[in-house]
Amino acid sequence: MSRKKIVAGNWKMNKDYLTGLELISEAVYMIKDELHREVTTVFATPYIHLSSIQKLIATESNFHVAAQNCHHEKAGAYTGEISAEMIKSVGVEYVIIGHSERREYQHEDSKLLAKKVDIALENKLIPIFCIGEKLEERETEKHFSTVQSQLEESLFHLTNDQIKNIVLAYEPVWAIGTGKTASPEQAQEMHAFIRSVMAAKFSEEIAEDMSILYGGSCNPTNAKSLFSQKDIDGGLIGGASLKSRDFTDIHIAFNEL
Ligand code: 13P
Repeated sequence: MSRKKIVAGNWKMNKDYLTGLELISEAVYMIKDELHREVTTVFATPYIHLSSIQKLIATESNFHVAAQNCHHEKAGAYTGEISAEMIKSVGVEYVIIGHSERREYQHEDSKLLAKKVDIALENKLIPIFCIGEKLEERETEKHFSTVQSQLEESLFHLTNDQIKNIVLAYEPVWAIGTGKTASPEQAQEMHAFIRSVMAAKFSEEIAEDMSILYGGSCNPTNAKSLFSQKDIDGGLIGGASLKSRDFTDIHIAFNEL
């Protein structure tokens, strides 16, 4: 099985130029020192860091950089926006698309996200595509149908060759930044469901090979129990990715499996 294990840190809107460089230097040093298994590390940083951090980690295998968003059009009069082509031009390889904070605060809907996925793939970026239900959807037992619709509406137009280049991140909105993690059983149940949806639409083989990350209050204490689940292939880490010790310890969870 060629499923990739990934630990991705989403810095969100944190870290200025110098403190960002400090964090990267520390984290790369510590992770390299402690990591024994094949785990891919991704740093999803604010735009101002992309170019310099990409240069810093360019010679390190298993370390990669991601943008946290890209615009859905190729280029043009979109003041304040950044295109997939620009992101790719500084050597970045990944881009987060569909994070719940952008769905909520920037009102990004499934149709728009489908366009962002397309333009990212056209530019040979790997989308880390986020899905996940809100608290009221879970409480009313709509969590499976919500996640299924998010997958259908933004990814089902892709070909089998295209979908192979997508990483998924299940991030239940009620677990993000709340300290309330999904239990390993809840997360596993949803990850297995997501894999079954992808298998039914694309193929068993594609679904088996797809990396599905968990995100939402993942920390050094709960990472091992989450990552030991059969269908959880790593994490998309928010708060804990801002501290090099915690981010490293989350990687170490893989060593202990
Ligand atoms: P927290 O780890 O801070 O809950 O954030 C998760 C997240 O949104 C990662 O994209």
